[in-house]
Amino acid sequence: MYVAQPIEWTEQGVVILDQRRLPAEEISHTYTDYQGVAKAIREMVIRGAPAIGVAAAMGVAIGVQKSAAKSIEELKAEFGVICETLAKTRPTAVDLFWALERMKQRFAELTKESADLARIRQALVTEAKEVHAEKKATDEAIGRFGAEYMPREGQVMTQCNAGALATAGIGTALGVIRVAYEQGRRIHVLVPETRPYLQGARLTAWELHRGGIPLTLITDNMVGHFLKTGKVGAIVTGADRIAANGDTANKIGTYQIAVLAKENNVPFYIAAPISTFDLSIASGEQIPIEERSAEEVTHIQGVRIAPDVPAARPAFDVTPSRYIAAIFTERGVAKAPYTESLRKLAGSVPAKAAN
Ligand code: MRU
Repeated sequence: MYVAQPIEWTEQGVVILDQRRLPAEEISHTYTDYQGVAKAIREMVIRGAPAIGVAAAMGVAIGVQKSAAKSIEELKAEFGVICETLAKTRPTAVDLFWALERMKQRFAELTKESADLARIRQALVTEAKEVHAEKKATDEAIGRFGAEYMPREGQVMTQCNAGALATAGIGTALGVIRVAYEQGRRIHVLVPETRPYLQGARLTAWELHRGGIPLTLITDNMVGHFLKTGKVGAIVTGADRIAANGDTANKIGTYQIAVLAKENNVPFYIAAPISTFDLSIASGEQIPIEERSAEEVTHIQGVRIAPDVPAARPAFDVTPSRYIAAIFTERGVAKAPYTESLRKLAGSVPAKAAN
């Protein structure tokens, strides 16, 4: 089955598929410096929490590889600037900070062991490639755990794009749907278009269509109608940050879907890697919510659709954990009370998902 490749480390640089141009065009850019990778994250060339993490790891690796530093001291100084630049790109997805932390730890280990700049450069490239490879394995495990919760047949709903484009693996929410479909479950996916940036219409519809998984695109304001009348068996979305109590930040619109799901007795699930947990914060109230440009609301693909008026533009919302039936991770399935189950999963060794 087709799996999109949003990012790749190559000899020439970091190759990123330009998601702003999908589905009309499949164009990739090769980034040869960390500033370029940071700009690509900020401007949504690459997006989706885990994929942003992979891009950040590769951004650090290319920054160190291309650094003109002649001594370990110079490299250390530049390393701080590289990490800071990448950290400032997008505030909500915690995978970004997880990946930067991992690269920082590796850098600290390496610089403690040796002052050989060539060796440090090479080892950081290896680490970034490992982050990428791990995301692939992680998604597959999430998919196997989550697929058990999908209906044998019928409709499922998602939100935004939590597919291969968003993770650099097979996807989290769409990974669950993909594995369930490959297991023979006769699933039909309802895809809300996900205004303002249309990740559902442009990216999820494209990925499912390319993968041969049946879908119907709906507008965001059809969600309630279909949850009431559409025989939806389950909803599964991704996450950008999960607080210690299970409150989950995800693309704007997720909260209203979760509330409508409860009202209509449809189970609402989150699929996300452990790297999306932020157990340092007690609840979703502490999750920073990114505000993007008002133009993403007043315009669609550069065409103005509203007069020149103020437009609200939070990119994410927080779904309280009481609306979440379960959280699928690569180490198993968390259920309420989340304060206990998430902590346990975060500290556990990977469990084996059922095949
Ligand atoms: O603004 P985006 O497109 O980066 O937002 C993406 C989402 O909200 C996804 O659902 C989330 O990052 C999970 S991706 C597996």
